[in-house]
Amino acid sequence: MSAVAAGVDVASRVHPLDPLSKAELESVIVALRRDGVIDQRHLIAMMQVEEPSKSALAHFRLGKNVDRAARVTVLDRSTGKVAEIVVTIGAENTCRVVSNKIIEGAKAPVLSVESEMAIAVAKRDPRVIEALRSRGITDLDSVKMETWTIGAQIPKYLDDGRRLIWTPMWHQPTPQANFYAHPISGLYAIVDIDSGEVVAVENDQQIAVPQTPGPYRQSQTGADIALKPLEIKQPEGVSFSFDGYKVTWERWNFRIGFCQREGLVIHDVWFDDAGEMRKIAHRLSIAELVIPYGDPSQGSYRKNAFDTGEFGLGNYTNSLTLGCDCLGEIVYLDVAIATPDGSVREIKNAICIHEEDFGILWKHVDIDGNVEVRRGRRFVVSSIVTINNYEYGYFWYFYQDGSIEFEAKLTGIVLTLADNPGADHGSATELEPGLWAPYHQHILCARLDLDIDGGADEIAGVRNSVIEVDSFSHEMGPKNIYGGAYETSEKVFRHESEARRLVDPLKSRFWKIINPGRKNHMGKPVGYKLVSGHTTYPLAKPESTIGRRAGFMYHHLWVTVNRADERYPAGDYPYQHAGGAGLPEWTRANREIENTDVVLWHVFGTNHIPRTEDWPVMPVERTGFHLKPSGFFARSPGIDVAPAPKACH
Ligand code: NI
Repeated sequence: MSAVAAGVDVASRVHPLDPLSKAELESVIVALRRDGVIDQRHLIAMMQVEEPSKSALAHFRLGKNVDRAARVTVLDRSTGKVAEIVVTIGAENTCRVVSNKIIEGAKAPVLSVESEMAIAVAKRDPRVIEALRSRGITDLDSVKMETWTIGAQIPKYLDDGRRLIWTPMWHQPTPQANFYAHPISGLYAIVDIDSGEVVAVENDQQIAVPQTPGPYRQSQTGADIALKPLEIKQPEGVSFSFDGYKVTWERWNFRIGFCQREGLVIHDVWFDDAGEMRKIAHRLSIAELVIPYGDPSQGSYRKNAFDTGEFGLGNYTNSLTLGCDCLGEIVYLDVAIATPDGSVREIKNAICIHEEDFGILWKHVDIDGNVEVRRGRRFVVSSIVTINNYEYGYFWYFYQDGSIEFEAKLTGIVLTLADNPGADHGSATELEPGLWAPYHQHILCARLDLDIDGGADEIAGVRNSVIEVDSFSHEMGPKNIYGGAYETSEKVFRHESEARRLVDPLKSRFWKIINPGRKNHMGKPVGYKLVSGHTTYPLAKPESTIGRRAGFMYHHLWVTVNRADERYPAGDYPYQHAGGAGLPEWTRANREIENTDVVLWHVFGTNHIPRTEDWPVMPVERTGFHLKPSGFFARSPGIDVAPAPKACH
């Protein structure tokens, strides 16, 4: 029905924003080894496209050459030091190192080979083996361990700067059983991942392993509720086209990117407004995802993982399955990522691209009986990652009314621990006798480098401002005679400190990013508004370890001056960081943000109080936000959408 990567001609001119290809990754690694920059002491932590500046990209569009380049983050295992190396990739993938800098104090994210090693040494440790045996578990293959970063206080005697990981464990009584139903609570190994030693074994509780199975595979449940087939057919083909990684659909065009750290990225978003190409965004990504756990028990309080910054979310991208993950006429893109040992792994069908019917776009029945109705369609770019127990789907939607939406879909298996059945356990839900799911939050931070109508200013510098709009009513009196009147107030953010803001549904608050130099037909600056959706506010105290390390989560909005080296809201290296890095640090300079090139950071997420219905696999939970034109177009772009061919009127 649909060919993989059909119509994608990535061999056409390689664009500086394209994801690094397998051949490019391999060439860079070969060059680094050839030049003696890396050897057997090094692990590759990350390889990312080194993105050119906006002005360089504008020059590229005018036909000038811009070098492809990669930024390689390497860990020297002999010293524990992290270096960032920038390598240009020339014709026929000839590579040249242009910079090589040690990042003092940085700790590398946890790498897959380190996780595997940590589990292997923990399983060999006699203390672990004995503790398992005392719980009646002798088959080590039936013990499933995960490696988690230590996201809270590190035990004092271990807190000397070494990189640590700890290993919650579960028991899998029969092959293919859902092991999350059987947490082995009270037993944890802490492993120094630089030296490869088990540095502590905690075995301070004797809580029984819960025994109620949690089957979810069809082969186990016999699930048989089925509906009649529903097929999505596009007999004349899809309405989008590709030029390399550039997509054109309806009046939109943009580029699809991928980053080993952030996963899916959207670049260079433009809208064709009656023949005039208007720029809306330069780069859109989810720059961090942190999951603070709110349960103080031994099996939970350290679980405050930065899935983006500590694990490299893109590393965990799924290969998607037609008809299951995505329905209809699908085009998939493959991606390639570097592994720590310097080989390259391809992920087939990593990014899904398709169109969806999205109900009615608009409708009106006139008093003369004339009916005008338009079906709406949306363009979807998505990918899904699996990190330990959880799945995260990142979905970017483009609509025919000029709006863009991001939706995170959260699914997978809730994290579990054991406690005595019926225990007084205030921060977790008992799912089955003795099986508890701790409370936690999923907090995401979008980095939105919008360039509202800034296409012509990419070389000189895009100039946007951000405004907060609240609705309010005056007291009863001359300005509110009948009591029902209300108005909006607008506040332009002049400095970064003023732009650290919270949502306020009681004021119908939204934020608007405008281009003061471009006016609409009514003489008002053109803009887009950021509309937050369902969200949450961190329950962790700001002075807690996670509160300090994820300081960005205490404001739903941040606005910063656009700087290429300010990419990640908890800093570049959150692993065991003391805290304060990223947005809290940058905005302390309180730079001017009015009428300049700015970045919006939107923090959103969900507070997960697990339900028994989230077990054994959680139905998809959604959280996200919308970017809607607000004074950008003279009229609704939806008006120009033709009626559906089969007369819907
Ligand atoms: Ni959750």
